[in-house]
Amino acid sequence: MPGTAILGAQWGDEGKGKITDMLASESDMVARFSGGDNAGHTVMVGEETFKLHLVPSGILYPNVMCVLGAGMVINPRSLLNELEDLSEKGIDVSARRLRLDGKAHLIFPYHIALDGASEFKLGSSAIGTTRRGIGPAYMDKAARRGIRAWDMLDITRFADRLRSEAQSRNIWLERVYDEKPLDVEAMVAEYSEYARRLAAYVDDVSVLLEQAYREGKKILYEGAQGVLLDIDHGTYPFVTSSFPTTGGILTGLGIGANRIDRVIGIVKAYQTRVGAGPMPTELKDAVGDVLVERGAEFGTTTGRRRRCGWLDLVALRYAVRLCGITELAITKLDVLTSLQPLKVCVAYRCGGRVLENFPSDTSILQACEPVYETVPGWTDDIRPMRSEAELPEPALAYLRMIEENCGAPVRIVSVGPKREQTIFRS
Ligand code: GDP
Ligand code: IMO
Ligand code: MG
Repeated sequence: MPGTAILGAQWGDEGKGKITDMLASESDMVARFSGGDNAGHTVMVGEETFKLHLVPSGILYPNVMCVLGAGMVINPRSLLNELEDLSEKGIDVSARRLRLDGKAHLIFPYHIALDGASEFKLGSSAIGTTRRGIGPAYMDKAARRGIRAWDMLDITRFADRLRSEAQSRNIWLERVYDEKPLDVEAMVAEYSEYARRLAAYVDDVSVLLEQAYREGKKILYEGAQGVLLDIDHGTYPFVTSSFPTTGGILTGLGIGANRIDRVIGIVKAYQTRVGAGPMPTELKDAVGDVLVERGAEFGTTTGRRRRCGWLDLVALRYAVRLCGITELAITKLDVLTSLQPLKVCVAYRCGGRVLENFPSDTSILQACEPVYETVPGWTDDIRPMRSEAELPEPALAYLRMIEENCGAPVRIVSVGPKREQTIFRS
């Protein structure tokens, strides 16, 4: 299985970091392909917690090479901060272990300022972005005016390009958004220094992956965000600006479809979402509060409380179809313990009709009511369980229901945030 993809099958925060870290122990390379530091991937090792935003979750294994693909948007300041934090924890983050594709676009302070200003202007219609400048950076990429990692290799040119872009964005900030302009020369000085420090990491990731593949190495493709946040197929406009799907792996890394052998959809045992947008199974009651509290559902990047609800199999079937998911990893099953009974959404009701397929029109989704099946819960503490045989029958039935509904087998079950709290099923 040389090429394994790990994709968020919901609205992000499914536990991709934990599962990537688990599988990285048997891999040679881990590649991130989309998004930027809007992602927050948590990995717990013993008593230590790592929160990764840009660096792939494979970095904790000394023999794993990590790469950041062309489809990403990189904030140089965030990347350097993350490298410094990891380095302080004794992790080798030299260019021997980490490379950044030259085609990846860079995020600058004006992207962040524009993200915030645009959200402010939208008022009650705001998307609820992470305010990391993600949307404006991808806008520049699509408009063909972005500054890329390759540009960091020629500091004079880099500084000229940055100066000119920052000046033009100041006009936007002042005239469109009524905001204060940014200090262009301070920005050019600061980011030119970052460019000098990051230059050693810049490489051609597509070539590195091809070499690794030909040498028979095992590669993990670490998704960020989730399928329902995809710019094309997600709940537009309440989405991110990148492609968290299988398609995003190919363009985001510069590899062919035959380089992916396995697509693991990471699925939280219930539904969560940060930011605005429709979420048919959202619970605004005491059960929702229990999920938030027990699941510690607060954003890894922004600290925002995550909206919680029952598992949505309509949305999951959609994710399986969109990404060709070949197997599932169910995380946070332990959080459902003692909730009695459990509900699972198997269809939507909308305007007198029952919908089996996820509607692509967001306004229809907004009007959908969940059709639930009620299933028995369990009370045994499953967190110490390490094999399928130990799991209580209702928990196994819950997994079987997901499998039968989605047509993909559940291969991994996570019963706690720690590495050892993982059950592999044959
Ligand atoms: P990611 O963005 O998909 O990597 O997910 P996040 O790291 O943002 O959020 C998942 C959170 O759930 C993290 O705090 C993890 O430590 C935690 N977590 C992962 N798996 C489990 C699990 O099986 N049970 C519990 N209770 N927590 C988990
Ligand atoms: P990981 O990789 C959860 C959401 C934001 C917002 C929308 C757009 O940790 O799963 P953006 O800043 O990207 O323009 O915000 O997307 N979002 C995430 N939600 N997990 C993430 O990443 C997310 N990355 C972006 O909350 O609703
Ligand atoms: Mg996260």
